[in-house]
Amino acid sequence: MKEKAVQILKQYSQEHILKYLPYLTQEEQDNLESQILRINFEELKKIYEFTKCKPLMQEKLIEHIEYTDKSKLSKERKEELEQIGREIICSGKYAVITMAGGQGSRLGHQGPKGTYELNTKNGKKYIFEIIIDTLKKAQKEYNITIPWYVMTSNENHEDTIKFLEEHNYFEYDKSEIKFFKQGELPLLNTEGKVIIDKDKKIKEAADGNGGIYEAIARSGVLEDLKSKDIEWIFISNVDNILSNFVDPLLVGLTIEQNQKIAGKSVAKTNPKEKVGVFCKMNGSPKIIEYIDLPEKMAEQRDENGELLYGEVNIANYLFHRSVFENLADIKLPYHAAFKKSAYLNEDGKYIEPEEPNVYKFETFIFDAFTRYDNMTILRVKREDEFAPVKNKEGNDSPETAVALYNAKNT
Ligand code: UTP
Repeated sequence: MKEKAVQILKQYSQEHILKYLPYLTQEEQDNLESQILRINFEELKKIYEFTKCKPLMQEKLIEHIEYTDKSKLSKERKEELEQIGREIICSGKYAVITMAGGQGSRLGHQGPKGTYELNTKNGKKYIFEIIIDTLKKAQKEYNITIPWYVMTSNENHEDTIKFLEEHNYFEYDKSEIKFFKQGELPLLNTEGKVIIDKDKKIKEAADGNGGIYEAIARSGVLEDLKSKDIEWIFISNVDNILSNFVDPLLVGLTIEQNQKIAGKSVAKTNPKEKVGVFCKMNGSPKIIEYIDLPEKMAEQRDENGELLYGEVNIANYLFHRSVFENLADIKLPYHAAFKKSAYLNEDGKYIEPEEPNVYKFETFIFDAFTRYDNMTILRVKREDEFAPVKNKEGNDSPETAVALYNAKNT
């Protein structure tokens, strides 16, 4: 290995990597070396140190955020707003992004989460197929093929494309589908050391869905949106099989409220529910995780008996294209998640840990909302629009998601 790479490892206390060299072929050593030269160890060190000191939330800076409850809109009002949104959709100014760069480690499925097959009352369906069903339904309704962008990561990019190609994109127009890759960062163990994967490289993973801003700008998606004159972009997770992502009401409401960002919420069922909720912090929209919301505030109610901090974020967002233009260079805070990750030990043995052993560093798409003074929030019914597939079993599992899907698709 060249001196420069060795120097870097020493400078950042990662010399343990040198112990692997005797097991590696020349080609593997060369790959590892170019990876070492590419990784920004200085930034990684800062992220690791930063994530160890958690900022304190100050109660007085958190405020309630206004929202619109869909179920309380009159028929006429709903129609009026939907009409505004329909015009945007029908004139080709609307696109959809699915964030599918995650690892899906809790589900434990081999392969991209979108390739997971569910046993629904409409037959066996892959998650990607359910998403495309929604796009095809919109195609019929609005007489237009809505462009679909899929954010992937190094880990699942090839497999995602291969899967959709093999299934002929479930008969959606291939020319309106684009894939773009997000960035990644090395995983670090509890001593702040990088680990080596089966392929004899430093193990890296997608850097969180906040990587979308940089990825959209770098990958040419932003240019593509501009050239197609797309104004509004709906963004959602790959794993919500009831996501209503072609929604004229949300578009109409956001335009009418003169906002550039919108999000959908569902009502929190009780003060202890472990979910992130929309609020305002220091005067800007923010999603506050249950762990950071002081208990007293979690229990506060308004004059109608509704939880004051009760708008659960279901990761359904609408952005005006200008948001991506403004935030292309944004630096978001990193959050560390403690996860299980297999690795090669220094004797060349592959270890599959039973317990979490590494930190994965992620930025979140919603942390950028603080750059705006306000956003539109539309409260929808949980049973209509939220059926996440997160865990292998129990809550938010294939079983619960399919039950919700079946109830909705009667
Ligand atoms: P989650 O936070 O549920 O993570 O992602 P995950 O990776 O899918 O699953 P676990 O935590 O390992 O079990 C929420 C959404 O953000 C996407 C995911 O694909 C999912 O749609 N995501 C997450 C990315 O696109 N990139 C990332 O780096 C992380």
